[in-house]
Formats: sequence, structure tokens, C-alpha cells
Amino acid sequence: MRVHVLGAGIVGLACADELLARGHDVTVVDPTPGSGASAVAAGMLSPAGEASYGEPDVLRLGLASARLWPAYAAGLGVALHERGTLVVGHDSGDGQEVERHAEVLAGHGIRVDLLGPAEVGDLEPGLGHTARGIRLEDRAVDPRAVVAALLARLHGRIEEREPAANTDVVVVATGARLPEPWTRLVRGVRGEVVRLRTTEPPRHVVRGWAAGEPVYLVPRAAGEVVVGATVEEHDEPPVVTAGGVVRLLRAARVLLPALDRAEVLGCEARDRPATRDHRPLVGPTDDPRTWLAAGHFRHGVLLAPLTARLLADALEGAPSEPAVDPRRLLTTTHHTTTGGMSCT
Ligand code: GLY
Repeated sequence: MRVHVLGAGIVGLACADELLARGHDVTVVDPTPGSGASAVAAGMLSPAGEASYGEPDVLRLGLASARLWPAYAAGLGVALHERGTLVVGHDSGDGQEVERHAEVLAGHGIRVDLLGPAEVGDLEPGLGHTARGIRLEDRAVDPRAVVAALLARLHGRIEEREPAANTDVVVVATGARLPEPWTRLVRGVRGEVVRLRTTEPPRHVVRGWAAGEPVYLVPRAAGEVVVGATVEEHDEPPVVTAGGVVRLLRAARVLLPALDRAEVLGCEARDRPATRDHRPLVGPTDDPRTWLAAGHFRHGVLLAPLTARLLADALEGAPSEPAVDPRRLLTTTHHTTTGGMSCT
């Protein structure tokens, strides 16, 4: 098939790479490749860490995609963070959030041991006071490194604008900004992050709550730590706000006091692409030429390898995965003037 993939973020590139590997003729269209949410994402491969958001299908798909990541990263020549994730709570209320998280996981058959302050301190000595913790196997990856590796593999196939040449299929992978008539399938949920450099980074990915504020700290190479992320429904461009940065840094410094002396490398914001049921859109629409790989909300990096497989399988005739089939959110009652389907 001749396929145009619209969007050179991690999801679009992973789809393009998979389709190319299966022998299809692929062009990726993006005026600024890799500059969307993938450039800012913390890269937690965190099905268990995100389980408290409560979508069982996302957890199931996230666990499946997490299993793909070691081979996927190795194939791209990208390192994974393999030291695991600590979910911690600073005060007693935060500790209850950790206990609740453990209960949510147990409800999904994932058993974890609740750790007290001394056990958490043994695992991660730089942490400040913690009431409770749990340790997860969740890994992390640097999404910028993944995007760079995929762009290198797709070299010569990236175009600024959609070429005039006919295609069999267009795969829309433009994250939170879908073209009409699909625009209203996703909304932007702002996430701000702060990048720090410290001589005392955590060994684990650390996520949790500090005086009620959710926060995560993701160590990267060379002492960099990504502190994220705010979550805000809004209708404006995703700018970095003073309040967002203050809340993130205050919570981060409570969890890891040494960050007080960290260098600030930068602050960034992007929109997460959220659907109304918080499941992604991967598969066909009612327009036989248009397929979607978008709307991954908090899980774009984690789900990228699985999304690529599901999309390519479905394009090649396999049944699409019902949990993420875009047609669940489409209606046949309204048609646009161009004859495409509109979205409820
Ligand atoms: N996956 C983490 C976030 O969206 O903030």
C-alpha cells in the first residue's frame, strides 16, 4: 500500500516504521517532526504506575506494549531505564494515595508490597520523608532518543507537506490536533514539565504525592531529571505557567530535597491528546481511506510499539482491537459537506 502518515511524533513514526518494515510505501508528513508531545513526554513506560487512572483496557494494552519495549528499544539502539519505579507518599494523606494505588493494582491481579519509610529509604536514600511506598518494575525511556532513532530510520521519507501523489491510505497521527472531521474526537489536556540537572539524581523513577500534589521525577542521562507533570483541561495554547512550575518544583523538592540545588534546564508544555473515554484511537474510520493513530492521552510513549502493530495488522486486514477502534466514538447521524463522518 501507499501510505501517508500525518504526524511525526513517536506514534506516527512508530506506525510508519512498522509499515515500512512490512513492505509498504510510506511517507511521513510533518513540518516540524518530533516537536509535539513526544518532545516533552517524560517517557515512563508505566502501565502499573498509571493504573490509578482507572481504565482497565489501557492497563491491559499498556502491559502488552510494555512487554514489547525491551526488544523495541534494542532494535532502535536506545537505552531503557531499568531500575524500576518507586511510588511514594510524603505525608499520611499521600501515604493513603499510595495504599489506594496498591489496592487498584491488586484489583487487577498485580500484587505489590507496601513499604514503610525505612524500606523506601533503603531503596532510594535521597528521598525526603515518606510515609508509604511501593516498588514497581515499570521502566522509562527518553522519547527524544526514540524519535531521533525513528527519524533516522525513516530518513528520506519525511515531507513538510502532504505530497500530491495518490495514496491508498492516510494515517492521521497528529496527537491532540486532528484535522476535520475528526477534530472533536480529542481535546488537549495541558501537561507542563521542568527539566533539571543535578549531581544527586534518583536511582529509580520516583512518582507519587507530596502534600496532595501529584508529581514524578524521571532520571535521564548525565544527571538530568524530568519533573512532571501538571494536568489541566483548557482551551488555550499549551504555555508554561508560573503556577504550574511552582507546584511541580515544590512537590519535587519535598520528595527529593537535593533538587533544591539543581540547575533548571528548561520548562515546557504540550497538550496530551485525550479522548472522551481516555482510550486511544487506533484503526479505521468510516472513511475507508482514513485511519487514525491518535488520542493516546497519558500513554503515547508506552503504547507506541503496540499501536504500530495494531494499526499495521488492521490495515492488512486483521480485525481491529475493539477497545481502541475509532468507530466507537463516531456517529453516522451527521455527515459533513465533504461526505466524511462527523464526531459526537
Ligand atoms: N504519562 C505521564 C503524563 O502524561 O504526565
